[in-house]
Amino acid sequence: MVDKPIIHYAFEEAKAAGIEQFIFVTGRNKSAIEDHFDHSYELQHTLSSRDKKAELALTRDWLPPAGSISYTRQQEPLGLGHAIWCARNLIGDEPFAVILADDMVLSKEPCLAQMIKQYAQINGGNMAAVMDVPRAKTKSYGILDVARSQGKLVSAKGLVEKPEPQKAPSTLSIIGRYILDPGIFDVLEKQKKGSGGEIQLTDAMNAMIGDAPFYGYRFEGKRYDCGNRVGYIEANIAYALEHPDMKADVKTMLKQFGKKA
Ligand code: G1P
Repeated sequence: MVDKPIIHYAFEEAKAAGIEQFIFVTGRNKSAIEDHFDHSYELQHTLSSRDKKAELALTRDWLPPAGSISYTRQQEPLGLGHAIWCARNLIGDEPFAVILADDMVLSKEPCLAQMIKQYAQINGGNMAAVMDVPRAKTKSYGILDVARSQGKLVSAKGLVEKPEPQKAPSTLSIIGRYILDPGIFDVLEKQKKGSGGEIQLTDAMNAMIGDAPFYGYRFEGKRYDCGNRVGYIEANIAYALEHPDMKADVKTMLKQFGKKA
């Protein structure tokens, strides 16, 4: 994405929210992620021998302290709920945040930091960032059955994963930012497969309502869904327009495209 991998933006957002322990749930053929969050000695050696100090800093100054990143592998693609369950032994018994890196949020205050502030005001439970989507799109997202709205917080009496538009209880959809109660692990352990034949986090959070309330948080910012191709292109443009070295050139480029379209 523009000049760094998408996963790096997720890492930066978590770090900006005060997170100190990072867990990546990866899978087969994803070892590039581990390499990214590590020293690249060959490159660093070359940059240092050419006295490229600024470039050298970019390769390593952001690296978190040793021992603060862990990896676990989801051995089979059994769904988001299963991916999170794979991290249960690393997380233990405290609330934790989840970022789905393919959802990007451009905002003044990072989305997760906004959520952590809100989470401190409620008495536990599960929380996800939410936004309204066109009704035709409900079948791509987890959707809230709204109980009450109070400012930016929305409590839900139910959650449905990827409902058809005519069956969706609202158009308020979950985006890939969560703060979860560790009780979710026991529920995920027994969770049956749901939409798409996958173990769904939405279903587990829904099953907990009653024991652990669910809150949607209407975040401030603009979300880009990089899980679809057009969303990915849009995000690249939006992030490039925020980039000090690139924005002027990208604006000119867009004007040229505008003339052709
Ligand atoms: C996942 C969740 C869904 C949520 C979405 C946000 O779906 O299952 O509830 O709304 O992320 O992007 P996926 O994008 O993995 O299909």
